[in-house]
Amino acid sequence: MRLDKFLCEVNTGTRSQVKEFLKKGQVTVNSAVVKNADFKVNENTDEIYFQGKRLCYQHFVYYMLNKPGGVVSATRDNTSGTVVELLREEDRRKDIFPVGRLDKDTEGFLLLTNDGELTHRLLTPKKHVDKTYLVTLEREATDEELLRLEQGVDIGEEKPTLPGKAERAGDRKILLTIHEGKFHQVKRMFQAVGNRVIALKRVSFGGLELDDSLNPGEYRELTEDEVRILHDA
Ligand code: URA
Repeated sequence: MRLDKFLCEVNTGTRSQVKEFLKKGQVTVNSAVVKNADFKVNENTDEIYFQGKRLCYQHFVYYMLNKPGGVVSATRDNTSGTVVELLREEDRRKDIFPVGRLDKDTEGFLLLTNDGELTHRLLTPKKHVDKTYLVTLEREATDEELLRLEQGVDIGEEKPTLPGKAERAGDRKILLTIHEGKFHQVKRMFQAVGNRVIALKRVSFGGLELDDSLNPGEYRELTEDEVRILHDA
């Protein structure tokens, strides 16, 4: 790839800043100063230094975010803050996006990545990737409600929801595992059985649990093992 593209991708600066850095001789490739922006580099094997620091090209990035309430699952929004804006500047590559959506008021595990192929596989309805939500209800659920949720309910789509798993996790709390990701699905499922969701947090996705050391708004990179688990999900 072109050297200037590489430097932008690894977040050394904007295209025009990168041009300046190159002009000033602040970039070396395999120990030689390179001032030419369209110089071709091999991002995997060349040793590229900027201001004396080695730059590493990582093609794909994967972040586990504990989404706080009040931000939207988008890259840009005119009125609200977005999940991508929660990333520190040095991590905020232009190509990062959230994998699917959580409602603005929903908290919990949201994956952010620039890996389009994995995203597609995780979101395709055929895959039925598991998602578990901690649901806080307006009133305690009855056994019958839980049974209906587990068997699948009519939420006004062509077909009822797929069978899921509903476990009690407190007086008015349920852990609900579902395998689809229809718009407002969890809220609509509880509405369909006559109850109401007052708070929602996703605690696992694609076989990975939300890291409970992450406070709302915090994130961390996935480990290689975790990325593998997602690929196998
Ligand atoms: N179901 C919902 O109703 N909302 C979410 O944010 C996720 C699942």
